Amino acid sequence: MSKVSYKAISAADFFYRNRDIAGFDNPTRAIYTAVRELVENSLDACEDGGILPEIKVIMKNEGDNVYQITVEDNGIGVPRDNIQSCFGRILYGSKYTHRQARGRFGLGGKMAFLYGQITTHKPLHIISSAVDSEWVYDVKLRIDIQTNQPELIEWNRRKNGSGWHGTIIEFSLEGDWPRARKQIVEYIRETALITPYATILFVDPDGVLYYFTRSIKKLPPPPTEVQPHPVGVDVERVTRIIGETKTRDMVTFMRTHFHRVGPKTAQKFLKSVGIPENTDPKSLTATQIVELVRKMKTFGEFLPPDAKCLSPLGEELLKSGIEKELKPDFVAVTQRPPSSYGGHPFIVEVGIAYGGEVPRKENIVLYRYANRIPLLYDEYKDVSAKVIRSIPWSRYKIKPGMPIAVFVHIVSTKLPFKTAGKEFIADRPEIEVEIRRGIMECARQLMRYLQRKERIAREKQRINIYEKYLPLIVRDIAALAEQREIPDYGKLIEKSKILIKEAEKTEKEEAEAEEEEILAEAEAPEVAMDQLVENTSEEDVQKIEEILAERKTAAIEGPATEEPIPTETEMETEEEPLTTTKPKKETTKTAKKPKTTTKTPKRKTPKTKKKSKKKAKKTKSPRRTEQKKPTETQENNKPPLKSPK
Ligand SMILES: Nc1ncnc2c1ncn2[C@@H]1O[C@H](COP(=O)(O)OP(=O)(O)OP(=O)(O)O)[C@@H](O)[C@H]1O
Ligand SMILES: [Mg+2]
Repeated sequence: MSKVSYKAISAADFFYRNRDIAGFDNPTRAIYTAVRELVENSLDACEDGGILPEIKVIMKNEGDNVYQITVEDNGIGVPRDNIQSCFGRILYGSKYTHRQARGRFGLGGKMAFLYGQITTHKPLHIISSAVDSEWVYDVKLRIDIQTNQPELIEWNRRKNGSGWHGTIIEFSLEGDWPRARKQIVEYIRETALITPYATILFVDPDGVLYYFTRSIKKLPPPPTEVQPHPVGVDVERVTRIIGETKTRDMVTFMRTHFHRVGPKTAQKFLKSVGIPENTDPKSLTATQIVELVRKMKTFGEFLPPDAKCLSPLGEELLKSGIEKELKPDFVAVTQRPPSSYGGHPFIVEVGIAYGGEVPRKENIVLYRYANRIPLLYDEYKDVSAKVIRSIPWSRYKIKPGMPIAVFVHIVSTKLPFKTAGKEFIADRPEIEVEIRRGIMECARQLMRYLQRKERIAREKQRINIYEKYLPLIVRDIAALAEQREIPDYGKLIEKSKILIKEAEKTEKEEAEAEEEEILAEAEAPEVAMDQLVENTSEEDVQKIEEILAERKTAAIEGPATEEPIPTETEMETEEEPLTTTKPKKETTKTAKKPKTTTKTPKRKTPKTKKKSKKKAKKTKSPRRTEQKKPTETQENNKPPLKSPK
């Protein structure tokens, strides 16, 4: 008999072995997922602080299929004590809450770094400053995969002279850029569409620059955190809540810890379970807890979860994004009322665009978004694709080959993703129904538009025929009737022309009135349209360079300091490492002089072109100003807890 050996592995080791489930299965997918995860984190960090996002993604070809990715944001930054864990410990994060965010698992960013580490062995470089922090932290680390602990390599800090806040992440990974190019560019473009309030600058490894300006200076309302809804909890969850509760009776317990439970509902519910109202929650037996949870699912009288923990985009922003990116002839958007599945609230937003730059394809083009993340892979398996396949489009006068795009955006505190790679949504019946209703509502509007268009076209055709044949007919009839004078038929044609003009005018006026309404509500757009910066002039390149240089320079400049980093606050550790591998020895602690520039370039918005063309022209490799990395090591410059031994 062969010998069987047993061992435990850490979470990092598990995901290292099974990286495919997080979207890191091959070099093409890996480089795409890495960009996506980092951009998601940056957008979350901005929206968490109610900050209009300014994101820069810069990719550089380092040769041998290795690419350096730098992502910079102006978000809330990471507090000093969380930096190492946020970026060096799998399943650690700030998004395990009942609040809508793009991130959910505490995994995405780290998987990108882990993939980079196992393919290049280069460390991850983080520069971050939290809002109102007087320090900018500059850290290099690796992930110790066996222990799932950050392995610190360098820890520096610098006085934050400029009030900058945000995060800059820089790391390298092996990837297949030529194959991933299409998806990455599409991802950035679709992200710009669903976040019309963000500015996104992307420099690809070939030196092509894509610059998407915001079309609106308005963030969607921020979601608030709520308690779990009774229908969505399980025994483990309730047991944990009981462990932490300070309440002393069951009515208060139900009201305090569960979403939308008032005193009357709590009393009625407890009566139905047979638990006296004044029972101390901590005295519940395991059997009682199981019964309580079972009854929560079947009680049926809890109010449905409300949607204040959600942050949908809203019809105005969705429309603005679609118009900005696709410039359609017609667009209809709708936001469905909040609904819920399994105790988790969700809202579906749908848009349909027709004409303009919408691609003309055999099938309807589908843009899928989940908590404002564009979903590009596995479309066929997604619930929205399933709904689109099942709609009888001909009823809405929609035929294959028409330039039609459907946008489906689902927001929820818990999206039913089928994989940790967050690529497609499972077909929950409740979600399916809402998507169907939303699409049908927009399709009806499109149908009306198409009908009107068709009517006008028919009328025009009729007039053309009239104009051609009416004089002949009138002349012949007059001859037959032996009339010398030919009647005046011009009035007839004029009348029809006026009718057409009015129909066209109504259509135009309706569109203009709608536009005015939107503009009156929103602040004026900063720049009229998005740009793929093309034919970049020397002047433009210079300005872009300034933008590229500005934040980073602002972040890392400023006087060096001799103050020691306070060490009293310790990094949170909830989980003991599973193996006993000691943290590696310190590898770098060189005292180099930081390169600094003498002037801080001011941020300027590059000149934007009103008419963006479809293709971005290669710029002469947008020359970046040299990025300065502070490497000066200060005395007493110790990390919070995990100092390299
Ligand atoms: N650019 C950033 N700015 C501020 N905080 C960040 C940034 N990037 C990551 N973080 C913090 O690090 C945590 C871990 O990020 P990570 O991407 O690994 O997981 P997540 O975003 O929580 O979930 P998911 O696995 O779904 O992406 C985040 O929860 C957030 O608190
Ligand atoms: Mg993330």
